[in-house]
Amino acid sequence: MYTIKQIKDTFLNYFKDNGHKIIDGASIVPENDPTLLFINAGMAPMKKVFTGEIPPQAKRMCNVQNCIRTIDIDSIGDRHHLSSFYMLGSWSIGDYFKEGAITYAFELLTNGFKIPKEKLYVTVFNGDEKRNIPADTESVEFWKKVGVSESHIIKCGFEDNFWRIGGDHDAGPCGPCTEMFYDTGDAHGKSYEETGFFDDKNRYIEIWNAGVFMEYYQDENGNYSKLDMKSVDTGSGLERMIMTLNGMESAYDTEVFLPIIDYLKQNSKIQNIESFRIIADHIRTSIFILNAGVEPSNVKRGYVLRRLIRRAIRHIKRIGLDEEKIPEILNLTIENMHTIDLEPKWNFSKQQIVEKFMSEYQKFSKSLEQGLKEFNEYVKDGKNIINGKLDSKIVFKLFDTFGFPFEITKELANEINIDVDENEFNQLFEEHRQISKTEGTFKSGLQDTSEQTIKLHTATHLLQAGLRKILGDYVCQKGSNITPERLRFDFNFERKMTPEEIKQVEDFVNSVIKSEMPVIREEMKLEDAKKTGAIGLFTDKYGDVVSVYTIGDISKELCSGPHVQNTKELGHFKILKEESSSSGIRRIKAIVE
Ligand code: SER
Repeated sequence: MYTIKQIKDTFLNYFKDNGHKIIDGASIVPENDPTLLFINAGMAPMKKVFTGEIPPQAKRMCNVQNCIRTIDIDSIGDRHHLSSFYMLGSWSIGDYFKEGAITYAFELLTNGFKIPKEKLYVTVFNGDEKRNIPADTESVEFWKKVGVSESHIIKCGFEDNFWRIGGDHDAGPCGPCTEMFYDTGDAHGKSYEETGFFDDKNRYIEIWNAGVFMEYYQDENGNYSKLDMKSVDTGSGLERMIMTLNGMESAYDTEVFLPIIDYLKQNSKIQNIESFRIIADHIRTSIFILNAGVEPSNVKRGYVLRRLIRRAIRHIKRIGLDEEKIPEILNLTIENMHTIDLEPKWNFSKQQIVEKFMSEYQKFSKSLEQGLKEFNEYVKDGKNIINGKLDSKIVFKLFDTFGFPFEITKELANEINIDVDENEFNQLFEEHRQISKTEGTFKSGLQDTSEQTIKLHTATHLLQAGLRKILGDYVCQKGSNITPERLRFDFNFERKMTPEEIKQVEDFVNSVIKSEMPVIREEMKLEDAKKTGAIGLFTDKYGDVVSVYTIGDISKELCSGPHVQNTKELGHFKILKEESSSSGIRRIKAIVE
């Protein structure tokens, strides 16, 4: 049985013995590269080395690089898709080319890792007329030369065997590649020889992109030119390698995940292997991302993280695992990373990482329950299902009101054989972003949308509710201004408030905060909003459809947000000052801490 450590050592030592310098892995958050959210391959931090803009540390290098790839997030739960992995990588920068790379790759797999050559299949690039890139006939010859039989060499097109950094508009070094696959045997499908079909989803598992032959450069318009220097970039997923070398059914049976899967099996009320895998994978990746200093949010890296954490939480609830067990899974994952010698350079303590994760858990867990109830209501009588698809407005509403990332709704829908439309969802998401932007320019109240400002905004709604309760419900907002430091609220009231009244309002607001009430956003017609008794300025400024924020039976206001999801996020509310603003108008300044 191979261990992670043995595989890493075998790989690195082999290349070191062949003149490669072992270099450090980079942080998963790219430095000085705004085009990339996360490092997704060993070569990603070295793009400019391949173009010759930056000199390499050495002409021959190798390392183990932590990578994040969430593009296949909805395939996770199967045998070997993961949202993060470690890549074993080796590089020749303007040094050896195709023959060298193929010889090393074959020798390492058959000699170093003792894989019988009958088990290996390789793919090579078959050319692309449209882009005017010729077939890689040389690699075919080099594979044959090292001993791979012709029947194990498969020729593939641009999509499979031309490696570039992104799509048609992502500029960067690129080239044809040759990949190595391991035959997992008849139990996983028919053989290539028998059918002429290369089943690279089940039977044949890709274990090494044994050479991207970097000799082209793709510009933003999708045009190709030749690079001055020819280089090699290789990469092999360590978690897949250990699964394959040990003849295991899935990456989750390896030492990387097994202790976590076992823990979940023993502590869950419902046994669901797919959920166990998703939880184990997403928690591991969340730990990597939290450790890199990213916080959950609704944009970019933070949103990748939020989706992973929230989807993990959904599956934790699905298998009936107690809340107190969540920190244990995180601790176990972190400890296991250390045990198997596959861990990042820690920037935070175990406890800090657990706290960050649990804080997102607190934000989401209540609205998840409510959202699940809503979801069941929506699908109950079938009226929101159009041609087998859940109405995209509902998918968006679940995102907007209950913080459901698209994948959660998709999963819920798929579980009862309903489809969802990702394009339509993205369109609504984009429209909403534009509307919020426009609304944002109207709304003079909020200076920015930092976390603290948003908290104070929700506190402002509670303050208004408190004033109306203690002083009388004729009291209403006459002005509001919020910065990250404090809220400022003007309201109609004829005299100075007494210290008792101030205390009563504070106590009221703090009791709502303590009751952990969800803050719910709904869109409705203006006239319906009036009927619900929502307060706010019913002026022409609003369109036909308005958004209304409700906090239990405490507060209902016409408002374009943003707000926290639950009052418990606010902390302690304190009124700093109550003073006159103008005739008949009082002004309160307050904070949450
Ligand atoms: N950059 C190539 C890949 O990601 C080789 O590592 O497949």
